[in-house]
Amino acid sequence: MIAGEAEVLLEVMDLSMHFAARDGASGRVRGLVRAVDGISFTVGRGEALGLVGESGCGKSTTARSLLRLLEPTGGRVVFDGVDVLSMDARALRAFRGRAQIVFQDPFGSLNPRLTAGGMLEEVLQVHHLAGEATGRRRRAVELLELVGLRAEHAGRYPHEFSGGQRQRLGIARALSVEPEFIVLDEPVSALDVSVQAQILNLLSDLKADLGLAYLFIAHDLAVVEHLCDRVAVMYLGKIVEIGPAERLYRAPRHPYTKALLSAVPSLDRKSEPGYERTMLTGDPPSPMSPPSGCVFHPRCSHPKKDEECRRDMPDLEECGEGCFVACIKERSRLGGGA
Ligand SMILES: Nc1ncnc2c1ncn2[C@@H]1O[C@H](COP(=O)(O)OP(=O)(O)OP(=O)(O)O)[C@@H](O)[C@H]1O
Ligand SMILES: [Mg+2]
Repeated sequence: MIAGEAEVLLEVMDLSMHFAARDGASGRVRGLVRAVDGISFTVGRGEALGLVGESGCGKSTTARSLLRLLEPTGGRVVFDGVDVLSMDARALRAFRGRAQIVFQDPFGSLNPRLTAGGMLEEVLQVHHLAGEATGRRRRAVELLELVGLRAEHAGRYPHEFSGGQRQRLGIARALSVEPEFIVLDEPVSALDVSVQAQILNLLSDLKADLGLAYLFIAHDLAVVEHLCDRVAVMYLGKIVEIGPAERLYRAPRHPYTKALLSAVPSLDRKSEPGYERTMLTGDPPSPMSPPSGCVFHPRCSHPKKDEECRRDMPDLEECGEGCFVACIKERSRLGGGA
């Protein structure tokens, strides 16, 4: 099983989300968009798993499917031993109290007519938390302080906050129901670099203090490096490499992971012996017509790339130190560690 060392909280098995692509004018189905195409991973209690890949590779669709904000077309999702995809409305409500999501743009998900305090109090009321009105008011202030805001921010409206403060508010709202697991869908991508660091520090502190588990989505490996215990790299609806963060950054196996690392100057391992820079050229193909065999082969610069890569679809296979890679040409090196 593709798991870390922590006790498993969330298990995603062979999850797929295929959308019907329709013709704009006639509304006729033109084909299938394989946005998520049979992916499996786990998130342990208190563990942060990074999910990284280029725009359009299926990260948000994965997040929405496993939280059942979308109904996936295939696979299983098990949260704390319970099958999420067969939960009835009541069980789903309880699940939503334990698994939350924070979006890239909190503005879009915050009610502009409610003050920060009012919004938090409303969530507490809906979930029957923190008792009566005074208790809710007190808890709302506590939540604001937990994310580095102050009591006086309770009276402000979303448009009166800066981008970073708004993201803090989005995180406070997610925390208000006391979840064990939070999906963070590019929570810092819209922020200035200095503010990004503050929010990442906050998320790291909250994880340590509250024992939270995260699925942290980003398009850049640098963002997830310090926060995540393990990282999964996604390409065109599939996971191509997954493993402990330290190992994946030190000794990436998949040519796509290598290319993503080369694209980040601070992570580039130029000083290492035998290092070869891997450049990523062109755009990913459409998930409506994925390439045959290994979906990465048209952009792959592996020195051993050949006909087999165009023909055979690689599965994720263990490649040492808890890492799994989906690359036929790395298979020959299996089990050998770094
Ligand atoms: N409702 C939908 N109907 C049809 N196609 C969709 C739908 N939602 C997403 N897609 C397609 O699924 C693919 C994956 O989209 P998704 O939003 O999950 O990517 P992403 O990795 O989150 O990208 P980004 O980094 O830009 O947020 C894309 O090709 C997208 O166009
Ligand atoms: Mg997205």
